[in-house]
Amino acid sequence: MRKIWRSAIQDVVPYSAGKPLDVLAAEAGLGSLVRLSANEHPVGPSPRVIRAIVREARRVHLYPDGGATKLRVALAERLGVASEQIILGNGADELLALLAWAAFEPGDEVAIPHPSFEPYTTVVAIAGAVARLSPLAGYDTDLDDMRRQVTDRTKAVILCSPHNPAGTIVRRQPLLEFLRALGPEPPLVVLDEAYRDFCDDPDSPDGVALLATHPTLIVMRTFSKIAGLAGARVGYAVAGAEIIEQLNRVRAPYNVNRLGQAAALAALEDARYWQSTRHLVIEERAFLSRELSRRGHTFPPSQANFLLVKFGPDADAVRERLFRAGILVRDGAALGFPGHLRISVGTREANERLLAAL
Ligand SMILES: Cc1ncc(COP(=O)(O)O)c(C=O)c1O
Repeated sequence: MRKIWRSAIQDVVPYSAGKPLDVLAAEAGLGSLVRLSANEHPVGPSPRVIRAIVREARRVHLYPDGGATKLRVALAERLGVASEQIILGNGADELLALLAWAAFEPGDEVAIPHPSFEPYTTVVAIAGAVARLSPLAGYDTDLDDMRRQVTDRTKAVILCSPHNPAGTIVRRQPLLEFLRALGPEPPLVVLDEAYRDFCDDPDSPDGVALLATHPTLIVMRTFSKIAGLAGARVGYAVAGAEIIEQLNRVRAPYNVNRLGQAAALAALEDARYWQSTRHLVIEERAFLSRELSRRGHTFPPSQANFLLVKFGPDADAVRERLFRAGILVRDGAALGFPGHLRISVGTREANERLLAAL
């Protein structure tokens, strides 16, 4: 028999997106559902972003700027780097795939905290490379163990701070020591900062500030969370220009669509909305944390826009009860944390509805 499909993908399970929100609500006989399961923006994008998308809609018959030039220049200015140090992706998800495509060969190793954001291991598996999983120490990334996972065959180390789904951060000084311990010929180090805008702990590192001294570092960020553009799919990586040049070799010419580029640019320009989202999430995270603690629930301190709450054997029943009250939360078991639920920080109204249902 002619062999068509690559062996490496035979164990990869297709992503199951679940039912759309309106279908779920209709099936459950509920008027509306509040989704606190996907770490989305609690309100939605800024009015300025919506106007930019509407304006741009007239031009959707034209291919987008394949280099996302305006957006890259604006981001470069905001971050204090050169525009050649930035690549845009169809969500940060795509950038992980580009990295795997450009760098990982069968037999290569990639060190990854476990559990963590699932696409890390998926892209490694698709490349036929080997994921070296480093167990979390409780809810924290164990940098000592991560270091021990690094061998001569290691192509990359992936760190996620704030961590999804734990919400914890890698602290600045331990991160610097970890980077130093990788030696003079380090592998690539991906620092996924998808949730960084929600950090208020001064000990939280700024990956972009470390680029000048760590040439193999790749910082990944996204407009999905802070800017409320999850549906527009715009993420970016910041790294040395040579790394970005390699990633550009495997990028499709028009990977970020016209509406996404216009929306992201408008979001960057609307600094006030960006800040107000940050304040809203930090304030509501504190409110939810306080109220959950008061009710005896435990969870690691979160620097992200979600909490990983421990319910023990009741987790499934609690999730079901919340669903009947019109609130969707994420099953921790599916994320490597049985007995937990991952709950996104919502508006005050959504959070109070959640607390009432609990
Ligand atoms: C840790 C982490 N990294 C990356 C992403 C991907 O973000 P994007 O929507 O830009 O693909 C997510 C999305 O949930 C995430 O949680």
